[in-house]
Amino acid sequence: MRAMNDDRDLSYQSGFGNQHASEALPGALPMGRNNPQQPAHGLFAELISGSAFTAPRVANLRTWMYRRRPSVQAGAFEPLAHEGWKTGAREGVLAPPDPMRWLPLPMPAATQSLDFIEGMRTWVVNGDEAAHTGMAAHLVLANRSMGHKAFVNADGEMLVVPQQGRLAITTELGRLDVKPGEFALLPRGLMWKVDLPDGAARAYVCENYGAPFRLPELGPIGSNGLANPRDFLVPVAAVEEDAGDSGEYELVKKHGGALWRTRLPATPFDVVAWHGNDVPCKYDTANFVVIGSISHDHPDPSIFTVLTSPSDTPGTANCDFVIFPPRWLVMEDTFRPPWYHRNLMSEFMGLVYGRYDAKEEGFLPGGSSLHNSMVPHGPDADAYAKGTAGPQVPYKLEGSLAFMFESRWLFRPTRLAMESGTLDRNYARCWDGLGPAGT
Ligand SMILES: [Fe+2]
Repeated sequence: MRAMNDDRDLSYQSGFGNQHASEALPGALPMGRNNPQQPAHGLFAELISGSAFTAPRVANLRTWMYRRRPSVQAGAFEPLAHEGWKTGAREGVLAPPDPMRWLPLPMPAATQSLDFIEGMRTWVVNGDEAAHTGMAAHLVLANRSMGHKAFVNADGEMLVVPQQGRLAITTELGRLDVKPGEFALLPRGLMWKVDLPDGAARAYVCENYGAPFRLPELGPIGSNGLANPRDFLVPVAAVEEDAGDSGEYELVKKHGGALWRTRLPATPFDVVAWHGNDVPCKYDTANFVVIGSISHDHPDPSIFTVLTSPSDTPGTANCDFVIFPPRWLVMEDTFRPPWYHRNLMSEFMGLVYGRYDAKEEGFLPGGSSLHNSMVPHGPDADAYAKGTAGPQVPYKLEGSLAFMFESRWLFRPTRLAMESGTLDRNYARCWDGLGPAGT
């Protein structure tokens, strides 16, 4: 039997959207049927559906699990208070249409003990989880492994972008090790926990209440490029052995915008075999095939989309996950930093490492920024000066990884974000030195 905590056996399957199959014990996975009268080893068959049964094939998500205990074995849920975790537009505050930027939240002090769930701090919210629209962006500070605590989110899927520290993510379908530069995608309704093999960690999280993230269409790009499906890694089945039958577990569930907790009689990470396409995965952004102009001008930044959560309006995403990775800039007679612009879509940005080319100062790793719908933004005065000076030789933007959660729904910052003390009150001054031209 493959054990969850066996680092020597940490392997993956590959392919975004594939029908995967895996077993921790040979012969545990039924062949030719999903629901045999007597599954091997007395296992219980259980189905998780990440879409309506009748969703079109392209959007249909479901996984069959064969486990030691069915997940109905749980106590009654009781409310669990969590001051930092907010849900939907209703839990944000009205903020002026200013560009906003935040300094990083400091790593937790040694005297503060926070696991990945306790350390969740919601920064911006929109939509409505009950209506399956919108998203929240969270910042996570954690310095304690979850141990015998599992988490499950009925309100949305979770896209986890570690910024500092490695995350060992145990899921019902197996284990994912995720380091800064990679991200993990954890489906709605699937149980998981995060342990911290390297100590304290800081991460960004998109909690997506809307349609599950999928790969964007490629149009004239063709059949290759951007994030290639085979570079997404999916766990193999593994069972948490050390919790044993006597190891009680706490299960925390997010449901209806609130947290709840109950006790489980044993580890929920007891799935011996599974098959399906409703699966967790991880992706290394170093594999992203960056596409840009090789003549003049820029494509729109949508060319950097890794995954998209579509809304009911074609081409207008509930959320796009967009990265700005290292890349060559070769365009001639072109202002190479991002242009000044206003956008129907609302943009929440973070920085995993390095310096973002439009804001070399002030936008720091672990920090964040918000440019809501129709809020003008663009390069600061220094970036403008550099972008307009000098010969345009090819050069490589290196050592930097910024990302954006872009949504059609206006973001409301949380009260915590507005009052945390990390809001950069001088952000808009970064454009003071610009113009006037023509004199
Ligand atoms: Fe923008």
